[in-house]
Amino acid sequence: MGLLTVILAAGLGTRMKSATPKVLHAINGKAMIRYVVDAVRALNPDKIIVVVSPGSNKIQDALKDDRITFAIQREPKGTADALKAAASKLTGKTGTVLVLSGDTPLVSQSTLQRLLTIHKSRREDLSILSFMVEGDHAYGRIMREGGSVISIVENRDADREQKKIKEVNSGIYALESSVLKLLKKIEVNPGKGEYYLTDIVGLSARNGFRVGSHVLGDETELTGINTRKELCMAGLYLRDRTISKWLERGVSFVDIKSVFIDRDVEIGMDTIIYPNVIIEGESTIGKNCVIYPNTRIVDSTVGNGVTIKDSTVIESSIIKDAASVGPFAHLRPDSVIGASAKIGNFVEIKKSVIGKGAKASHLSYLGDAEIGGNVNIGAGTITCNYDGVNKFKTIIEEDCFIGSDTQFVAPVKVGKGAYVGAGSTITKDVPPLALAVSRAPQRNFDGWAKGKSCKKNHKSSKG
Ligand code: UD1
Ligand code: CA
Repeated sequence: MGLLTVILAAGLGTRMKSATPKVLHAINGKAMIRYVVDAVRALNPDKIIVVVSPGSNKIQDALKDDRITFAIQREPKGTADALKAAASKLTGKTGTVLVLSGDTPLVSQSTLQRLLTIHKSRREDLSILSFMVEGDHAYGRIMREGGSVISIVENRDADREQKKIKEVNSGIYALESSVLKLLKKIEVNPGKGEYYLTDIVGLSARNGFRVGSHVLGDETELTGINTRKELCMAGLYLRDRTISKWLERGVSFVDIKSVFIDRDVEIGMDTIIYPNVIIEGESTIGKNCVIYPNTRIVDSTVGNGVTIKDSTVIESSIIKDAASVGPFAHLRPDSVIGASAKIGNFVEIKKSVIGKGAKASHLSYLGDAEIGGNVNIGAGTITCNYDGVNKFKTIIEEDCFIGSDTQFVAPVKVGKGAYVGAGSTITKDVPPLALAVSRAPQRNFDGWAKGKSCKKNHKSSKG
């Protein structure tokens, strides 16, 4: 018989204090619910049902490619009511139902698998995944009598003695579909005005079902995320885990506590990462790179032996082997920096291809440009790519030399090997090997400043 899975995600998440649904808050660049969906998907279930609230389509949008059945819980009347909403999608289906919370993202596939194995081998009707925790917390306590589970008491309803119980509920259960009929017997909790799914445990035990609770993970794995603090702590935990993985694989970090690397990032051996570096999304960093401080790289591919100097932002771009970018450079989306090219101080590049060995070392804006190999772009060069309505291309073929402070009024093309004199505004194409100069000729007026009053000012300001 197949496996049916239900992920509860229709709660208000009020403790998060956010306009975004709680389960869409990201940890290490990935929404909480996506972790749960991925762990569940690895079990190869027949069906994944996600219970959501009406009105907001944000969760459906975020999971639209995941072949998921959505069940709507009309009002957030508690976890039992949420499972009831899912049960309506299960009519006629029998077998084991794995119930999870969308706010318990770090649970691993192997722990879920162990719960299902125990559930089956012990022939239980309802198996609770539990963990041990001490001190102050808000988890439901697993109540036992003579070793057998008799119920779960929620923290807010627990007395002093019950609060001392260390085994707590993760909110993840494996149950037989026959147990679902007990949902309608759950009464509203007078304290909170909600229908508690945890009440199904006592009901099952009293109705002759086999109930078990199994400590199969610890709090780090089974933590429920209800607040921004818990979200942040889970992020830091995953961050440490990711960095440990890269340390083991031969990547160096100067300060592991200030670096954030999303989980899908890849990094090559002997790369060195300085403090305050953030690498996000689907990024790949090659071997033997050096990434200096205060740099953010998003959805980008960096080749081998690349140097990224301080305070650089790289978005959806490609940097090829042995190139150097920064300090204070900004690669905006769809930029390709050729092998051994150099992009220097205060250079912004957008949707441009920079050829092999080309250089733009200082203070430039290159947008919608194609820059050939070995081109030298002088300081202050700007592509005027936008006329207020449309964007146009600048093409500079290989081996060109562009003098400082040149503006290219696109669309415009400079032929192979041409020179452009400093301070030029280039509005027409430049033929290969030509020199283009467009600035006004300089005129000197001999002796013109003699006796001018500002001369005195020059003198007095020197002191
Ligand atoms: C729940 C358990 C508690 C357990 C803890 C583990 C109950 C009553 N309590 O408490 O025993 O220790 O999880 O983390 O179940 N949800 C809905 N609809 C609702 C209410 C909640 O879909 O009307 C969803 C939420 O989106 C969330 C999950 O159910 O993903 C759990 O709800 P939450 O309010 O976070 O329960 P806890 O108070 O944490
Ligand atoms: Ca919770």
